[in-house]
Amino acid sequence: MNKGNGLKLAVMVLALGAFVAVAAGEATGSVTKGKFYFKKSCKSCHAKGAEGGEVTPLTKTQAQWKAYFTAGKHAKGKEDLSKFLTPEQLVDVQTFLTAHASDSPQPETCGG
Ligand code: HEC
Repeated sequence: MNKGNGLKLAVMVLALGAFVAVAAGEATGSVTKGKFYFKKSCKSCHAKGAEGGEVTPLTKTQAQWKAYFTAGKHAKGKEDLSKFLTPEQLVDVQTFLTAHASDSPQPETCGG
């Protein structure tokens, strides 16, 4: 296989991966950015012992995080999640939380 074909194949594989993620209804934001925004905008109230109670990716399953962000409500439905972050940032946070959810292939608390 020459170099050109290898590149084409790589592009196809990437496109397929994105397609599968979208088809599965997964959030397609950035895990790295999501982790950053979660620490910056959520963790102050969601560390162990803080006012909102401890929240980590392990708090919910992938399906539960999806449902939570689809509803977009926070603090027992009292307010909108959009109070804290822009829609794009929320997609990143959702992507981060889902990637490490309790039933994900890589469950972890990520120090957060
Ligand atoms: C100003 C403090 C504060 C910030 C910032 C905050 N939360 Fe909360 N959060 C709370 C409180 C208070 C509750 C309600 C806790 C209870 O009564 O059980 C809550 C509840 C929750 C719950 C449990 C389910 C629910 O909605 O009641 C989740 C999940 C959650 N927050 C996620 C987040 C995420 C994600 C962010 C960042 C986008 C965030 N929180 C930012 C205070 C905060």
